[in-house]
Amino acid sequence: MSEELHILCTDRDGVEHNLPALEGWRIMEIIRDNGLPIKAECGGALECATCHVYVDPDWTGKLVPKSDEEDEKLDEAFMVKRNSRLSCQILMRPDLDGLKVTLAPETD
Ligand code: FES
Repeated sequence: MSEELHILCTDRDGVEHNLPALEGWRIMEIIRDNGLPIKAECGGALECATCHVYVDPDWTGKLVPKSDEEDEKLDEAFMVKRNSRLSCQILMRPDLDGLKVTLAPETD
């Protein structure tokens, strides 16, 4: 039995949620399956950019760097910042326990 992991996700009202997270799951799935409003229209296929989150600056360096494909798809997202990531491209790992992300604004 692996230890229980969590991420902290701030919603669009500025409320932080402590979400249980399973190793190997996409951060997008953890956010969605805990009932927070993330569209993730393509289900993680890197085709929609609606799983856009901002990663807390303390954590950006701990993540696997963006692929060229993620970078290109992020160009289609709204209000992209230096710490923007597509949350379907980040897999939960034990060393990401406590990861902090914030939901990006929706496009419509
Ligand atoms: S869910 Fe579509 S790009 Fe992440």
